[in-house]
Amino acid sequence: MKKIVALLLAMLMVAGSLFALVSCGETEEAKGGVNTATETVEETVEETAEGKLVTVKEGKLIMATNAYFQPYEYYEGEKIIGIDAEIAAKIAEKLGLELEISDMAFDSIITAVDEGAADFGLAGMTVTEKRLEDVDFSISYASGVQSIIVPENSPIKSVDDLYADGAAYKVGVQLGTTGDIYATDDFGDDLVTSFTTGNEAVNALLGGDVQCVIIDNEPAKAFVANNTGLKILDTSYADEDYAACIKKGNTQLREAIDDAIEELIADGTIDAIVAKYIK
Ligand code: ARG
Repeated sequence: MKKIVALLLAMLMVAGSLFALVSCGETEEAKGGVNTATETVEETVEETAEGKLVTVKEGKLIMATNAYFQPYEYYEGEKIIGIDAEIAAKIAEKLGLELEISDMAFDSIITAVDEGAADFGLAGMTVTEKRLEDVDFSISYASGVQSIIVPENSPIKSVDDLYADGAAYKVGVQLGTTGDIYATDDFGDDLVTSFTTGNEAVNALLGGDVQCVIIDNEPAKAFVANNTGLKILDTSYADEDYAACIKKGNTQLREAIDDAIEELIADGTIDAIVAKYIK
């Protein structure tokens, strides 16, 4: 990797703590535990292994994610592993850059990318029209389904039951996810409770505070496997595409990531990574 020019000294708000790669600390602060500090981060233009120029922070490729989303990103001890983590490592390798993974609240990822605290977001993130107003997306590398988790003996037998006349089931979701956005649209604020992580939503389900959890199908399977007494309904709530998000207008980086993903799909690398985590 050749460092071509040290371009800009950008003043960026950089996280001091795990959940803090956000500069709009207000909502996070309200939840507690956020400790932001102003630091100088050097933006550099780097030449990728394939001779393309990309602008990144400090010669590294910083990935924003929320690592409570098995099998895409989750902790094994101190380490973040999973499908997205491995795909990101391959992308970084192709770009000739060192990968750094920054874990944060899911609803902070787009802000982190938009404000330059991270170079890209990879988090089982669904491409939506609304998000496209704030960030650019790479080509898609996987598809997802919003599934519904219920207790085994639940009266909710299919997604239609949630819409039935007089139905007023309490729904748990992860804050800022498509599950949250769609469920709030469909069932209203009063019936939908957003939790910081999927784990907390599932705990609320186990505790009887909500009657179902709407979340992506693979994490849903992991939650059902890791807890007793839960199942996933056969009918899906929504179908979607996952992609990496990149700061709007950082076309060089988006194209470099697109090319990398395209190659990783074509040579079977992504399939192999997925097969390792999804049996
Ligand atoms: N696919 C959903 C979305 O984009 C949920 C993603 C949650 N990802 C995570 N790493 N927690 O909104």
